[in-house]
Amino acid sequence: MRLAKTDNELIRDFHHVWHPCTQMKDHEEVPPLLVDRAEGIYLFDRDGNRYMDVISSWWVNLLGHNHPRLNDAVKAQLDRMAHVMFAGITHRPAIDLAEKLVRLTPPNLTRVFFSDNGSTSVEIALKMSVQYWMQSGKPGKKRFAYLSGGYHGETLGALSVCGIGMFRKPFEEVLAPNIEVAGPDCFRCPYGLKPESCAAECFEPMEKTLESRHRELAAVIVEPLVQGAAGMKMYPAAYLAKLQDACRAHGVHTIYDEIAVGFGRTGDLFVCSGKKMDPTFLCLSKGITSGYLPLAVTMTGEEVFSAFYGDYESLKLFIHSHSYTANPLACACANATLDILTGENFMAGLAPRISAMREEARRLEDLEWCGEYRQTGMIGALELVRDRATGEPFPFDRRIGYRVYLEGLKRGIFMRPLGNVIYFLPPLVISPEEIGTMVETARQCVEAVLNP
Ligand SMILES: Cc1ncc(COP(=O)(O)O)c(C=O)c1O
Repeated sequence: MRLAKTDNELIRDFHHVWHPCTQMKDHEEVPPLLVDRAEGIYLFDRDGNRYMDVISSWWVNLLGHNHPRLNDAVKAQLDRMAHVMFAGITHRPAIDLAEKLVRLTPPNLTRVFFSDNGSTSVEIALKMSVQYWMQSGKPGKKRFAYLSGGYHGETLGALSVCGIGMFRKPFEEVLAPNIEVAGPDCFRCPYGLKPESCAAECFEPMEKTLESRHRELAAVIVEPLVQGAAGMKMYPAAYLAKLQDACRAHGVHTIYDEIAVGFGRTGDLFVCSGKKMDPTFLCLSKGITSGYLPLAVTMTGEEVFSAFYGDYESLKLFIHSHSYTANPLACACANATLDILTGENFMAGLAPRISAMREEARRLEDLEWCGEYRQTGMIGALELVRDRATGEPFPFDRRIGYRVYLEGLKRGIFMRPLGNVIYFLPPLVISPEEIGTMVETARQCVEAVLNP
């Protein structure tokens, strides 16, 4: 065990803390990074060593750590009220936030239901959809279609629409029997097409599912444009256009899970903003508070809302509550986050960063093991393969991604590859120069593992 016997804090961590999505035995050899403080795009350990946070702390930190305006917003709210329950009580930070979100998302999304994490915002959309159909005379519509590779969180409801076997496997028998549909796979496109020029021919399986099973389908859930946990798999908007038309034609709801891609990540504030996309439900979390505090929302429109609205005796209300729903500190922080994102030409400032990432990434494409480098907005992903010509993956037990991560720690960059996909999801405020450092360091890490 590499843990020094005198390293009291890490020993205490090792004995009592169970970290998420972690094989804890790995920490015998490599303890977790004990982060002491964070500033901008950097994390600092106890000894003052600096690590570039190139995945925005699990994709949440949009504006950098320790941001003065966000700090002020939280402090100001803290001096007024830290928390209060949200049934029978409301507060200004939540009202302001709901109004802002309604203004910034497609016109049909007029109602905001608060919660406190991404998985829960998905649970809420699933529940609302089923209850809507039940209260609209179609109680048979209670299944969901989801894409292979789809990921929507790890609670049981969210897992029941997860298209990644590893997450589902231990729980398979307790998950609701929803319907997995083969989704886009642009890197290994079974139709032999390119995303720039295809017409989303891969929509065919979804089309067939909607045709044959629409009577039992409440909704289709997707991560628009980028399937994050699947390895930052990217697909064209043409797929979403077809999905919208087909769902409308068959009377099936659409749930856009923009938990990871929302709030500027793709270069637009939301994937569904300004593109004639009109999901029935929109789930948002992660970047909503720029990584400061837990918060989530599920948005929908008047049609769904009105199916729940009526006299008390009708018992049509939506029963879903959490103690920390719409926490005022989190709402205040989200308001400040949105003010920054929508002000001061912030979004326009993303374009040069997006180009810098694309430009810098050329050096990754020269790597012998580069299966593909793909990018959507400020999300870049390098898929490493054993054989570039055939796209043959590395066997999972070689843990290439993990070894690249360890090399990154030696070089001051904190990554967390997904299998053999090394990805960049840096805070949106990263500078073009820092983008160069990030990409070059990652390239060196890959070389160090595969060409030592
Ligand atoms: C697309 C998507 N949906 C849902 C979730 C779950 O969010 P949370 O981790 O806050 O429960 C995630 C988290 O990674 C996600 O990427």
